[in-house]
Amino acid sequence: MVVFKRLDGRKSEEMRPITAKVGIIPNADGSAMFSFGKTIAIAAVYGPRLLHPQHMQDPQSAVLRVNYDLLSFSVSDRKKPGPSRRSQEISKVTSWALTPALDLKEFPNTVVDVQIYILQADASTRVAGINAASMALAHAGIPMKNLVCAVAIGKLDKELVVDVDKNEEDFKEGEAATDFPIAKLANSNSYTLLQMDGNIQPNVVSKAIALADKACEKIYEVQKKALKEVVESQ
Ligand code: CDP
Repeated sequence: MVVFKRLDGRKSEEMRPITAKVGIIPNADGSAMFSFGKTIAIAAVYGPRLLHPQHMQDPQSAVLRVNYDLLSFSVSDRKKPGPSRRSQEISKVTSWALTPALDLKEFPNTVVDVQIYILQADASTRVAGINAASMALAHAGIPMKNLVCAVAIGKLDKELVVDVDKNEEDFKEGEAATDFPIAKLANSNSYTLLQMDGNIQPNVVSKAIALADKACEKIYEVQKKALKEVVESQ
């Protein structure tokens, strides 16, 4: 039997080491960091506060405003500072991934700002950012149905793998690598992000989702522990 070996020696279902910490930015209303191996994301939440200009206000709800930024020094080829099509897309899908978890109706006419910065990137930054932002929103006391947990599933040649790193994303042997970021409300079957870059057979999608479910259970435990630690230290 041929045993599939990942480029860094991980098993197919094995994530990189995960770390999470809540309350890292004292001036923010809520904050957190989350890392998958060398991918490090921080998130800061400000608000709810009155939204200006007034015509952007929603009298029924707070507005969630997400800004994702991959910092220049986070990648080996310095990234040009400032917004890009990629950062706009990731900000948008992150907002969609988080919104179903939130109850924003309690705060009409306000805005909740979520700033996500990638300090170091080794792929899977959008899912690391979602995990950090979800903890930061809970830390800010925004009412939530549950935390949002996210992970990227990959397909290397014909093998599904959990938590894709940059080497794997660039893997080009056989079929090209596929990157399949998934986010969900913890402990539920509500998926809030399903994106895909590459090719995947329809019958493999449910297997990829099952792998993400298992990984998200572990991520949820790490997120809860980090939130508990900050509550207990207050
Ligand atoms: O980071 P994520 O996998 O969510 O999104 P991506 O657009 O598929 O980017 C994959 C990876 O490419 C990033 O995590 C970075 O490691 C790398 N990247 C880069 O080196 N330079 C950029 N300007 C953008 C991405």
